Amino acid sequence: MARPQLRYVCQSCGSVSPKWQGQCADCGAWNSLQQEASPAATPFTQKHSLKSGGRKIAMQRLDDEVELPHRLPTGFGELDRALGGGLVPGSAVLIGGDPGIGKSTLLLQAAGRMARAGLQVAYVSGEEAADQVRLRARRLGLADAPVRLAAATSVRDILTTLSDGAPPALLVIDSIQTMHSDQLEGAPGTVSQVRASSLELIGWAKQSGTALILVGHVTKDGQIAGPRVLEHMVDAVLYFEGEGRHQYRVLRAVKNRFGGTDEIGVFAMEADGLGEVLNPSSLFLTQRDRPVAGAVVFPALEGTRPVLVELQALTVRLPSGATPRRAVVGWDSARLAMILAVLEARAGLGFGNSEVYLNVAGGLRVVDPAADLAVAAALVSALLDAPVPADLLAFGEIALSGEVRPAAHAALRLKEAEKLGFAAALAPPGTKGVGRLEVRPVATVAALVDRLKARP
Ligand code: TYD
Ligand code: MG
Repeated sequence: MARPQLRYVCQSCGSVSPKWQGQCADCGAWNSLQQEASPAATPFTQKHSLKSGGRKIAMQRLDDEVELPHRLPTGFGELDRALGGGLVPGSAVLIGGDPGIGKSTLLLQAAGRMARAGLQVAYVSGEEAADQVRLRARRLGLADAPVRLAAATSVRDILTTLSDGAPPALLVIDSIQTMHSDQLEGAPGTVSQVRASSLELIGWAKQSGTALILVGHVTKDGQIAGPRVLEHMVDAVLYFEGEGRHQYRVLRAVKNRFGGTDEIGVFAMEADGLGEVLNPSSLFLTQRDRPVAGAVVFPALEGTRPVLVELQALTVRLPSGATPRRAVVGWDSARLAMILAVLEARAGLGFGNSEVYLNVAGGLRVVDPAADLAVAAALVSALLDAPVPADLLAFGEIALSGEVRPAAHAALRLKEAEKLGFAAALAPPGTKGVGRLEVRPVATVAALVDRLKARP
């Protein structure tokens, strides 16, 4: 047999190179290449002819009867919602997020609730000792839940144990980066170990009809370590996110083979674990008596659910010559630069000498492109020191031409706003009012500026 060839795998993008280099030629990451053994030869790597040996497969029709996947409720309506209606038996879900955001807490709570509901549940921690998990369970008021708990990292040991007797309905692996597969050499956490361990676990889950949840840590640049490869292998990817100091956590579906993406679940971290937030809009709005310059409410659409958030802008004039800062929390900084440029070019507003700060209240991260008009309104309001009425909101996408473009699901957004007592909305032309909520169409950023200037 030939000696296994050495190869170097980038731990950030998974690309393979025959020799070591300081920088990955594919993704440009530095010092990310690690030596790994080549995978064993498979039938596909050996020469074979396409014309012989295949088996005929039955082609089917698109409109054949389908059985909708059966779903297991997790005991958390918000988690079910992010999953598209509960866990699908035999499926694999990856939950990513920064360390300390609450992944273990969420999954232990879900495991406890499912076990209490009479389902077989196994929770395997590779990060914490069993005592640590038990202490946490006690704090969460779940000490009596019949969860099967193990502290282990060997995939073979875990699967051997679970294959003895009826397979559990749910298996939680916390985290995939600590798992080790003996099919392959290499330390846990490397790309190939993460891939091999996941493959074994996912294959087993599929076979035994167990719903598998893998916890994955996210690296600093926002990728699940052991990287995108993992996202392709699982059926659903959820990110658990939130601003560290804030209490609120958002579980966001970025991939889901069994449901819609962009669906979110909202939680609040309390002393006794995560609680569900059923009406998130009331959370992200700040209560105040009089309007403040720079604050504008935006009806964001998170999946199918409207969530009202307050955008806050602050501009500080600098002596000319100084380089002004731009800082953003909860929104895309490139998008902010674009909106500033459009306001400058199409409405003649100069931010060149001003520092600009933009913040999404409550720690939510807004990805909805319809936030443009609300951001622009907040910026203009801050620059002109002209407060926007507290019962007014704004949404719409802004083009480089300065035009305001229609946004998806305007009626859904406005219905939620009306419910919460908003009286008017700055919105793209053609948007229809809902109930008592009146629409004030804004066609361009110049019209927006005129409108905000005209207010007393
Ligand atoms: P954890 O679930 O360990 O995060 P992860 O698994 O994503 O790394 O959450 C840890 C944080 O949550 C920790 O800083 C303490 C906080 N926490 C609470 O505020 N209340 C609780 O009931 C628990 C269990 C944790
Ligand atoms: Mg954890």
